Amino acid sequence: MAVVMAMEAEARPIVERIGAREVEGATPLPVRFFVARAGDCDVVIAVNGRDPRHGVDSIGTEAAALTTWEVIRRFAPELVISAGTAGGWQAKGACIGDVYVSSDVFVHHDRRIAIAGFDAYGVGRYPSADTTGLAESLGLKRGVVTTSNSLDESDDDRRMIAANGGDVKEMEAAAVAYVAELAGVPMFAVKAITDLVDHHTATAEQFTENLALASERLAEVLVRTIGFFAVSVGNGGPDA
Ligand code: ADE
Repeated sequence: MAVVMAMEAEARPIVERIGAREVEGATPLPVRFFVARAGDCDVVIAVNGRDPRHGVDSIGTEAAALTTWEVIRRFAPELVISAGTAGGWQAKGACIGDVYVSSDVFVHHDRRIAIAGFDAYGVGRYPSADTTGLAESLGLKRGVVTTSNSLDESDDDRRMIAANGGDVKEMEAAAVAYVAELAGVPMFAVKAITDLVDHHTATAEQFTENLALASERLAEVLVRTIGFFAVSVGNGGPDA
């Protein structure tokens, strides 16, 4: 299976916990691959890597799509997981450090195209693999993951999030889901909450404060998720 991640700080705890070793990329992309064996299953953690122009982690949808394409092309995983941090809503019961798995579909909340057909294309609605069994087994919350290329949100974003029932807000999953669907690989997301979108404290401040804690929680859940699917992949695939 492949786990696609955007930030090095998000990836480091899971890479260390499963003892993954880095393998050469042989690609012009800044992506970094870390591989490990879990039970009878090969795991590759694909991290977007540093943006060569700006020297920061390559967050957002372009890098997520390229990394997903590259990890599928090179490693042919049977399952792709988009893993990282995200915002949640206290009005919907989210708490800092909660870990959600995706339900139903992945949507974009910043692609508004008011032309028949293109409006639905903009939103995406790419399918999530069925995470019901995983969530029950691990005691995780489930929700619709909504993606944009901004950490904050405009009033139009807020309207689209409400219209599409978004529960978890982040910057990559819909792009990962888009590529996984093109490639015919089942995919879902695991996202740890760093910030509450409807809290009075600025999102960037909450994110910075809680990134390390959320990344540790994410790693704990990813280890158990890999264990859960290492068994079902070995038996013929996830409950997609
Ligand atoms: N990543 C972590 N928190 C986020 C938020 N509120 N919006 C988008 N991406 C995030």
